Amino acid sequence: MTDKILLLSGDGIGPEIVGATESVIHALGHKYGYSYDLEHSLLGGCAIDADGDSLPLKTLELAKEADAILLGAVGGPRWDKVERAIRPERGLLRLRAELDLYCNLRPAVLFPALVNSSSLKSTIVSGLDLMIIRELTSGIYFGQPRGVEIREDGERYGYNTLTYTETEIERIVRSAFEIASKRSGRLCSVDKANVLEVTELWRDIVTEVSKDYPAISLEHMYVDNAAMQLVRDPKQFDVLVTSNMFGDILSDLAAMLTGSIGMLPSASLDDAAKGLFEPVHGSAPDIAGQNLANPIATILSLSMMLKYSLKEPDLAKKIEQAISTVLDAGLRTADISLADESTVGTDEMTTAIIDALK
Ligand code: IPM
Ligand code: MG
Repeated sequence: MTDKILLLSGDGIGPEIVGATESVIHALGHKYGYSYDLEHSLLGGCAIDADGDSLPLKTLELAKEADAILLGAVGGPRWDKVERAIRPERGLLRLRAELDLYCNLRPAVLFPALVNSSSLKSTIVSGLDLMIIRELTSGIYFGQPRGVEIREDGERYGYNTLTYTETEIERIVRSAFEIASKRSGRLCSVDKANVLEVTELWRDIVTEVSKDYPAISLEHMYVDNAAMQLVRDPKQFDVLVTSNMFGDILSDLAAMLTGSIGMLPSASLDDAAKGLFEPVHGSAPDIAGQNLANPIATILSLSMMLKYSLKEPDLAKKIEQAISTVLDAGLRTADISLADESTVGTDEMTTAIIDALK
């Protein structure tokens, strides 16, 4: 069967890293006979420039038709002044919501070759391999009412609303238990149940669902403590599950433990495991167009796509192995190099990864 993949380059370094990943897809075709059908479309700032909307209808239609979607990154200072409702980030949020991609997987894995790139001591991070599962289509990101208004006395005020229904909590929590069952059997649910009623409900539901998973050892942790523990002793965790905003923050924190946010992929899945795959890092407008960006997070996002959506686990493995090979051989883009190491650009890194595909 031919997989239909939609490529959304987005903004900043997006076109370079998605371009790099597209060459890897072609290589999978040449080397292993992988059969695919690629479409391209616009999302984010580039779509505002071309169509006046960060999520054009055509992109949404193609996204619905695709088996999986690969995204570079969206946003940049150029669009900071654009009306809030059509900003680049809003296009991405709408795409996640329209496709019901509620289950966001953000692995934080330390590659052995990069153990000295972390800002933490190598004893604390070596062997790190954790999975953050973030609820992605509800919570304070989407809750109503929201806005910025002017009170009668002239004072401006802003507000957002943190809401979760039982169903929304239960489905993400079940996904987390399922994933924990396939890993070490440990799950930590992160909330702020000592202060926020919504997350008290979250905690209750986690406890209820846990009855269906007696083999999983479950722990609840407040988000402030979880942030501290992630820096103090990250290897105590295996799978973490949390709400949209806490997951946004903790996944950046966890990403940095590995030495470079430029290395980390993510998957956003719906109930049928159709998904949007994107690097955890942003659009890095400061280095865009200079052949400096690290393509590895996006190439690893392709690997997650092959594993989770397209049911091609062997191809996914081959990509991971090729990346390990080039890192072991000492190839480094600027973001993962130590002061005394020489670096390569996006193109050279990509070619090396393709050459290393066995
Ligand atoms: C992320 C990003 C997005 C988010 C932005 C770009 C809307 O930070 O994917 O973590 O907050 O979800
Ligand atoms: Mg984020």
